[in-house]
Amino acid sequence: MIGVPSAMAPPAPLRFLRQSLQQAQTVGALWPSSKGLSRAMVEPVFAEAHKSRERLRVLEVGAGVGPVTEELVARLLPGDRLDVVELNPEFCAVLRERFAAAPVVPAVHQVSITEFNPGVRYHHIVSGLPLANFPAKLVEAVYQRIFELLEPSGSFVMFEHVLGREILNTFAAGEARDRIARLLEIEAELEPLVVSSKTVPINMPPARVVVRRHPEAGRAEG
Ligand SMILES: C[S@@+](CC[C@H](N)C(=O)[O-])C[C@H]1O[C@@H](n2cnc3c(N)ncnc32)[C@H](O)[C@@H]1O
Repeated sequence: MIGVPSAMAPPAPLRFLRQSLQQAQTVGALWPSSKGLSRAMVEPVFAEAHKSRERLRVLEVGAGVGPVTEELVARLLPGDRLDVVELNPEFCAVLRERFAAAPVVPAVHQVSITEFNPGVRYHHIVSGLPLANFPAKLVEAVYQRIFELLEPSGSFVMFEHVLGREILNTFAAGEARDRIARLLEIEAELEPLVVSSKTVPINMPPARVVVRRHPEAGRAEG
């Protein structure tokens, strides 16, 4: 683990659990991602890095207490850039403290991704956002912003809980059912962009890492 948490603060996973009970809709999970899921999330970022090791610009969205951030900072090189966008102020405080001494110190921005305007585009965007919890309009706004912030040659990595939407769709009624149906439609519209999908069973709950390309990928060459 990088950085030492303050002696007075409860350990990061307990702070995550407390926030998840208070902010269930935006946090969307009870416990931080497992080591296996966190590693699977960053694999696509570094898979091709040996080919053209230009300075990487990486954006992490919805970092929580930082299990995926930890894997990113362990692999980034001095000169690379890591921005972290996290809505929850307590998680931002944990992230700033935890990674203050990392070789590449992440710049932590306490803002919604839909409002984030860094003035640059990223080679890779990695997201832990609980999209299945969000209203459909917010999910559309998130994807739009992500693709505005991603280089056309870049990759967008996210995870989703296995069968999460399908189970909700089966048990939801009324407006909730309409919302899930629209989320499934949005996913179907984005299906042609999927580059890979990998299930990580050892996580609470089991998850799937999905990598998408930019909608404009390859247009310039075509
Ligand atoms: C499921 S947790 C994932 C945390 C961490 N990446 C992990 O894997 O353990 C989702 C995170 O997204 C954050 N979040 C929710 N809505 C957001 C938004 N609009 N912009 C940025 N972060 C957001 C929450 O505060 C929470 O930390």
